[in-house]
Amino acid sequence: MDLRRPRSLRTRLLCAFLVPLAVVLAVVGVAATTAVRGELLGQVDDRLAAAVARSTQADDTQADDDPGDGPGRDGTGPGFLLTPGQGDGTLGARVVDGVVTEAAVIGKEGDGEALTAAEAAALARVPADGEPRTVDLGPLGAYRVVATGDAGEVAGEVLVTGLPLASVRAALLRLVVVEVAAGLLGLLAAGVVGSAVIGRTLRPLHRVAATAGRVAQLPLSSGEVRLPDRVPAADTDPRTEVGRVGAALNRLLDSVESGIAARQASETRLRRFAADASHELRTPVTSIRGYTELVRRRGGLPEEVDASLRRVEAEAVRMSGLVDDLLLLARLDAGAGAGAGAGRELARDDVDLTGLVLDVVSDAHAAGPGHRWRVDLPPGAVLVPGDAARLHQVLANLLANVRTHTPPGTTATTRLRTQGTDAVLEVADDGPGVPEGLQAGVFERFARGDSSRSRAAGSTGLGLAIVTAVVEGHGGTVSVASRPGATVFTVRLPGATVAEPDDDEEPAPARA
Ligand SMILES: Nc1ncnc2c1ncn2[C@@H]1O[C@H](COP(=O)(O)OP(=O)(O)OP(=O)(O)O)[C@@H](O)[C@H]1O
Ligand SMILES: [Mg+2]
Repeated sequence: MDLRRPRSLRTRLLCAFLVPLAVVLAVVGVAATTAVRGELLGQVDDRLAAAVARSTQADDTQADDDPGDGPGRDGTGPGFLLTPGQGDGTLGARVVDGVVTEAAVIGKEGDGEALTAAEAAALARVPADGEPRTVDLGPLGAYRVVATGDAGEVAGEVLVTGLPLASVRAALLRLVVVEVAAGLLGLLAAGVVGSAVIGRTLRPLHRVAATAGRVAQLPLSSGEVRLPDRVPAADTDPRTEVGRVGAALNRLLDSVESGIAARQASETRLRRFAADASHELRTPVTSIRGYTELVRRRGGLPEEVDASLRRVEAEAVRMSGLVDDLLLLARLDAGAGAGAGAGRELARDDVDLTGLVLDVVSDAHAAGPGHRWRVDLPPGAVLVPGDAARLHQVLANLLANVRTHTPPGTTATTRLRTQGTDAVLEVADDGPGVPEGLQAGVFERFARGDSSRSRAAGSTGLGLAIVTAVVEGHGGTVSVASRPGATVFTVRLPGATVAEPDDDEEPAPARA
């Protein structure tokens, strides 16, 4: 088992409660057993002292009557053993010079039963100091024995008297069994009750965690965000630990909500400013274009002035494109920021992507005759819900990139297919590819390759940003995979349907 594995709070609290309880129970059990054992042994020792007194007295009397000191009434064991008053199981032995001469134990019938040699030998080793000792007599069990020197009669003669400890052992065993069983039951009951109480105590914590989990799942990064979830008032009592956590979480949610609202307000202001500024710029830029054109048309201008005016006109055209792009982006942002998911600016019609591809590719062909333009279309028309003009712009931007960022002779293939309910539009070319360092951020605004060719062509780096904004406004995704010789931009739009082709109509042929 891995001890470093994090354990739940419930497990740790239960352990902190049950382990000391188990230790206390064990200590109490050991102390009680020791005390009872001492008490029981004391009682046996008292009875043993009485038995020893009877044995010694009987032995002295018998010695006076019969100096030969013959065997007991039934001939087994020392005569002093079967004196009246000795109970069942009492043991007696006579040891002379370390050798057991007679040894017996009182059996169930009240007669003496002889001991085996091994048992007798164990008795011979008991020191004759009158102290009670415990000896193990094998099959006979444990005995409490006392050896007394009978110095008055024969020198070196020792009388050994013993009482069985079987009943003491049995009583102690029963006590231990009862203690262990009661202890385990107690621990189990404490565990069940403790677990229930801890579970109840921790339940508010689970509710707080659930609230935090629900809030964490909300998309907080963009748009207008409402945080309706709060920890219930019952779990925010500041007098409890969990209540303090709940109250703190509620305060945190309040401040996050107001922070997000403030951010959203400032974003909205900024977007409106960008949209207004682009909109306001349109008129002056159009005027500049118009007046320069007018002046040039009149003619009769010196050559240098005419060249300068042509530059002014070209730059005005470029600026008006840029202003249009900025205005479109600002409007798409405003739509996405409204939290509606799909941009508000976008229309929702059934757009025939197949026809759209054919249109845009033929425009590209006209604009870039130096490239090879190919299409690869499915037999039926692919329809997606969306804004035809914006989707037109998506494909136009992708093809314009091939035209401006790859050398003449490059082949550009526009493929359309459906995958599940998605329409997948791919623009692939075998040009030099998107520069390595630019790939990660190629869809960002104003991201562009720093080749002088691009700059000369008036590249602003907004084309792919517009593609992204439009596609995301349609709930789709756009991605790029590029290496020299193989660049593929993939646009995925949801909700595609396929209109089956009419039987008499030929499927659109791939064309060069
Ligand atoms: N098919 C392509 N092959 C090679 N590089 C490409 C291709 N498409 C895009 N790029 C690179 O990605 C950059 C960003 O493209 P994007 O369309 O966003 O901007 P742009 O084409 O530079 O300017 P704009 O489209 O606004 O006129 C480009 O400058 C170019 O370096
Ligand atoms: Mg471009």
